[in-house]
Amino acid sequence: MLLDLRHTSQHVGILGAGHLGCAIAETLLRQGLAREQLFVSHGSSPKTKQRLHELGLDSQIRDNRTLFESADTLFLTIRPQAISQLEAAPSSSKAHVISCLAGVPRARLEMQLHIPVTHAMPSGPATLAQDKGIIALYPAENTIQPLLQAMLLRCIMLPDEDLFHLFTAGVCLPAALLLCESKPAINEAIEHFAAIYPPFREIHLWAQDVLPPAMTATECENYVRAMCTPGGITEAIVNSLRQGESLRYALQRGVDRSRELSKT
Ligand SMILES: NC(=O)c1ccc[n+]([C@@H]2O[C@H](COP(=O)([O-])OP(=O)(O)OC[C@H]3O[C@@H](n4cnc5c(N)ncnc54)[C@H](OP(=O)(O)O)[C@@H]3O)[C@@H](O)[C@H]2O)c1
Repeated sequence: MLLDLRHTSQHVGILGAGHLGCAIAETLLRQGLAREQLFVSHGSSPKTKQRLHELGLDSQIRDNRTLFESADTLFLTIRPQAISQLEAAPSSSKAHVISCLAGVPRARLEMQLHIPVTHAMPSGPATLAQDKGIIALYPAENTIQPLLQAMLLRCIMLPDEDLFHLFTAGVCLPAALLLCESKPAINEAIEHFAAIYPPFREIHLWAQDVLPPAMTATECENYVRAMCTPGGITEAIVNSLRQGESLRYALQRGVDRSRELSKT
């Protein structure tokens, strides 16, 4: 049965309310979660503070410890480079923690936080805003699926955590396709990765579907920029394409960057 966020008593936390964290917050609010049931944290940037003010969430800012104590579900959306700043979750925490950190294995976070973690990879903020997001999960986690489905996210279970590297390169396809116009190069790349991970074909179809039909050069540039976390996987793919490398090579660079981040 579908969870109705307008009538749930669940509290949701977002630890690291940056680009992705704010997109998750907006999606939850759009689908009806009451502001009072949403708690967020961030670092020290005035820009993020301003963004949270625009979302009407200034009164919902808490420290990380309070998030662990009060959230039933807690999205981790900091950059992988910031993991070492996190303290262990208080032993009283009952939160279901969903880590959206690209590349970082759940074992690494569980070691830091001392709490079970579901490893997840959602598609980018623009796709969440369109209500066309997808999210990969490992391990298969039935408890959190109703909330994710209420956010209109399509859940894809990964049988093996290592497949996150490929899936993550796959969800960068909307940006990559904007920078690669060669159909043979696209087919070659998709067939190459689908031979290793068959759902890659489905991810390609999803990427075509989420791209707005007509965009000016400036809109394309803004779309690509919004998808790039500095030092992240989309950025590695985008930089490779801008250097004239093939889509297959660029996606491999993304997979390699994801593997590098997993060793952070
Ligand atoms: N953007 C995407 O399309 C996308 C898609 C899938 C997954 N991801 C993953 O999502 C994560 C965030 O990416 P992003 O693009 O949203 O990065 P971002 O905009 O830099 O957001 C990171 C946020 O974490 C906050 N932060 C830093 N240290 C913190 C701490 N100790 N406690 C609480 N908050 C802290 C920062 O606060 P301040 O702003 O105040 O410094 C910032 O708001 C990354 O791990 C990335 O791999 C991103």
